Amino acid sequence: MYICLCEPVTDKQLRSAILEGASTIRELRQKLGVVKQCGRCAKATLAILEETLSEGESHCDSCGNAATCGCAPHAATAHSSGNELAVI
Ligand code: FES
Repeated sequence: MYICLCEPVTDKQLRSAILEGASTIRELRQKLGVVKQCGRCAKATLAILEETLSEGESHCDSCGNAATCGCAPHAATAHSSGNELAVI
């Protein structure tokens, strides 16, 4: 779905840019051109930014799944996201 119409940018493009490291509206503006003209996309862009960043916090750096995935790296070490798993 298009989020910005002034500079045609979709929610998928926003999420990809965020997953590639963009963590602020300014960085998304520089990278994709959102919130650069009329600004009507600012609220939706911010919502996607916050949602994607919060999803990323609860994902495993090793396997990319949810922090509670139980993959081998999780079983061997504590997770760094604050969702540490008990090592049995
Ligand atoms: S809709 Fe994004 S700047 Fe206008």
